[in-house]
Amino acid sequence: MKTALIFGITGQDGSYLAELLLKKKYVVHGVKRKSSSLNTDRIDHLYEDKNVKNFFLHYGDLSDSLSIQSIISEVKPDEIYNLAAQSHVAVSFSMPEYTSNVDALGTLRILDCIRFLGFEKKTKFYQAGTSEMFGKVQQIPQSEKTPFYPRSPYAVAKVFSHWITKNYRESYNIFACNGILFNHESPRRGETFVTRKITLGLCKIKLGLQKKLVLGNLNAKRDWGHAKDFVKAQWLIMQQKKPGDYVIATGKQYSVKQFINYTLKKLNMKIKWKGKGIHEKGYNNNGKVIIECSKKYYRPSEVDTLLGNPAKAKKELNWQATIDIKQLVKEMVEEDLNFLTKYDKKKR
Ligand code: NAP
Ligand code: GDD
Repeated sequence: MKTALIFGITGQDGSYLAELLLKKKYVVHGVKRKSSSLNTDRIDHLYEDKNVKNFFLHYGDLSDSLSIQSIISEVKPDEIYNLAAQSHVAVSFSMPEYTSNVDALGTLRILDCIRFLGFEKKTKFYQAGTSEMFGKVQQIPQSEKTPFYPRSPYAVAKVFSHWITKNYRESYNIFACNGILFNHESPRRGETFVTRKITLGLCKIKLGLQKKLVLGNLNAKRDWGHAKDFVKAQWLIMQQKKPGDYVIATGKQYSVKQFINYTLKKLNMKIKWKGKGIHEKGYNNNGKVIIECSKKYYRPSEVDTLLGNPAKAKKELNWQATIDIKQLVKEMVEEDLNFLTKYDKKKR
């Protein structure tokens, strides 16, 4: 029986990866942060299920070497997945030092712990890299060979993590891999990322619980997949004969505005778009503005376009995305409507 340790188990990907590994009969350990309010709602169904025996949680933090060392030496994992991060690009401009500490040095802390404990031959390591590292893209579409041009403190920190992972692989022979994952979403996506902000916001407007949705740059383009598909790729990367780096993407690109239009269609809502850029607005049938833009949600430097080339993953991992944007939107809208309807009834 293999043992896995997931940093970032309480996040979107951590919860799906834990489900996948438990299905594959792994013993799964996860690291959660101390928080003054509950932060385990994405994994409570696993923790509370009496039939799930091999699931364990530990308190720890990527900024705290002692907790990392004590957990890794106790768990002695076969596989470590580092999914923990301050993962919000816009927030990284407000908290650049904290973001660098966690997203860059946090990775080094885990890798050096593997080396320090002499686990180089035992413990494989996966680093959650990102398409944000391509930033101001130097090539379209982006592959493993495309040069990085990070455009935020978050992306710069992730570039450090990418290279330190490669460096520990080459220097100490650790089975250390980088996934370079393009955007992936789900009903479990954090509410401040644009896709979930859109599905939740428009569902609330549909149910009369909110009047307006205020967004930033509607013209940004992303390659959006489903987190369930993408965690499968993370596991596959760790099962190869040799450690490597892989772009994981759908190979299709849509704008934020297109994502909104798919959501509106699914909700059977019609709007008229008027204006351009930051002045663009969406009007409902009664002529009321229900979508508008604000400078508040623009970033100091934007990543305008991301589009991945997942050819290496297809060839070597036999992986490809199975869920397209329409199915993704459908699932997110249905779960948000379901959640809001239950929540609204409870309140009454
Ligand atoms: P997420 O939902 O924001 O989850 C991040 C996880 O990291 C949470 O469990 C969070 O704990 C934890 N965390 C944050 N700061 C930490 C710290 N100082 N010490 C320990 N844990 C900490 O992110 P996600 O969407 O699942 O993404 C997973 C990873 O993939 C991240 O590293 C992200 O940067 C990267 N990535 C994501 C995407 C994407 O589109 N989703 C694409 C490429 C790469 P709390 O629950 O307590 O906040
Ligand atoms: N968050 C947010 N909120 N983004 C908005 C908004 C808004 O109100 N309005 C427009 N956007 C635009 C952003 O400017 C960006 O161009 C795009 O929507 C996507 O923003 P996010 O959903 O915040 O995701 P991201 O692409 O910046 O970062 C996500 O994907 C990366 C992979 O490329 C995060 O999950 C990162 O952790 C991940 O590495």
